[in-house]
Amino acid sequence: MTTLTQDCTPFEGQKPGTSGLRKKTRVFMEPGYVECFVQSVFNAIEGVEGKTLVIGGDGRFFNAEAIQTILRMAAANGAKRAIVGKDGLLSTPAASHLIRKRSASGGLILSASHNPGGIDADFGLKYNVSNGGPAPESVTAAIYDETRTISSYKTLDTDDIDLGDLGEVTLGGMTVEIVDPVAAYAVLMEKLFDFDAIKGLFQAGFTMRFDAMHAVTGPYAKAILEEKLGAPEGTVLNGVPSVDFGKGHPDPNPIWAKPLVDMVMAEDGPDFAAASDGDGDRNMILGRGVYVTPSDSLAVLAANAHLAPGYKEGIAGVARSMPTSRACDRVAEAMGIACFETPTGWKFFGNLLDAGKVTLCGEESAGTGSSHVREKDGLWAVLLWLNIIAVRGQSVHHILKDHWKEYGRNYYSRHDYEAVDATAAAELMGALEAALPDLPGQRPAGLMITEADQFSYHDPVDGSVSENQGLRINFEGGARGVLRLSGTGTEGATLRVYLERYEPSGGDLEIETQAALAQVAAAVAELSDLEKRTGRTKPDVMT
Ligand code: G1P
Ligand code: ZN
Repeated sequence: MTTLTQDCTPFEGQKPGTSGLRKKTRVFMEPGYVECFVQSVFNAIEGVEGKTLVIGGDGRFFNAEAIQTILRMAAANGAKRAIVGKDGLLSTPAASHLIRKRSASGGLILSASHNPGGIDADFGLKYNVSNGGPAPESVTAAIYDETRTISSYKTLDTDDIDLGDLGEVTLGGMTVEIVDPVAAYAVLMEKLFDFDAIKGLFQAGFTMRFDAMHAVTGPYAKAILEEKLGAPEGTVLNGVPSVDFGKGHPDPNPIWAKPLVDMVMAEDGPDFAAASDGDGDRNMILGRGVYVTPSDSLAVLAANAHLAPGYKEGIAGVARSMPTSRACDRVAEAMGIACFETPTGWKFFGNLLDAGKVTLCGEESAGTGSSHVREKDGLWAVLLWLNIIAVRGQSVHHILKDHWKEYGRNYYSRHDYEAVDATAAAELMGALEAALPDLPGQRPAGLMITEADQFSYHDPVDGSVSENQGLRINFEGGARGVLRLSGTGTEGATLRVYLERYEPSGGDLEIETQAALAQVAAAVAELSDLEKRTGRTKPDVMT
């Protein structure tokens, strides 16, 4: 028993109920910090005696050191087995898969997702439960409660173990099993997708670039795309994980993956391009000359999933986070399957997936996934796109155009106002919420409001209710504005404004998205008094 000599407040400054910790790396490096959180997790789940845990992370600075600490603590707390990715690496979806496949009690995943890595950047740690998904609110609340009363932790006084050797070693009474981080995940992908069809595509000269952004998906993409599927060497860019992600932001969007976007927008660019984030759960999809919004990607995948062997029986239903565009709703309607609208955050999909109500789910923030694991999965989305392209024999642009022709097009963009004064942001939301009952019938910027509400979610599986999940304003003709405050921003408040407009006749790439959404943006700005309340005339980021 080691006594914690300092206050144990790992969640300080973070919203309680968040599924893990995300802080500056130096905070994680403070003596006792990791120990406090990990012992709180162990206590909250009634100990780890006799249990199996999966442990791995995205390889950022301090990943390997934190794993050594966790292993010593797991052994001292009586765990039976720890399954660890070689060199401490496991992508988040691969960790989710291992937890499920090996019937582990849960797992500890070390990552700050798409945030930069390094001693002066960010670090993160979260606990996933036995279904492979992020801990639900009941568990995160119990962990939080433990952090308030905990005064000591258990550890061993042992040397570090070598994480670079595959196989089993003993630590105290615990077996540490070091596994190839890619192997089990690659087998799962091979089951879900038509690898022969994708191989044929590459053999026929189809060109692709996958930007691993110096993060965890490098080894996965090299093994699957280049070695198994025969894509030429050089298909995977920035494929060696580095502790500071090459000093970049491992965030797969047109801003941080600009070199890739520039490449694929050129006339002689590759046929297809994709990127994933620090821990491998997010994705960006591009075809030559075209960026696919995550909302459109979810809709296209839902409409075409049956072309992949793993989904050939069709999909049970789809779910999207509330602010995600309603493009997939139209697909679900046409297919006669359910479409669920959930609050922002992957954890809300868990119950629907476990209950078999949905097969695919996605968020506008570049997260797409399916029932194969309980996390979003970047490479999975890339492989499903490749499978669809191979079977349809069409370019990304062609597939998108056909999709819009059939279902109509949902123009979509998210505008972020970052580091807004927290009080001003709260007042903006409060004032707009108070005005909601009077909005229908009003015509800000000439657009008539048909409905307006504060979104609350009633989980159809466990009956739980999550309130205050964002303000929804519907306009005539299927346009919509959504406003919510970010739960992950670190400085002041981040106001997210989600804009959508429906164009039944399809439309094509010539129409610029921001221009198509200008009227909806003006209506939302007018309603929320955005400029006066925030002092901002334009968003910091538009995705
Ligand atoms: C953001 C995204 C959300 C995602 C979350 C975690 O949360 O918007 O879709 O689930 O990061 O990756 P937000 O900052 O909007 O609360
Ligand atoms: Zn991530």
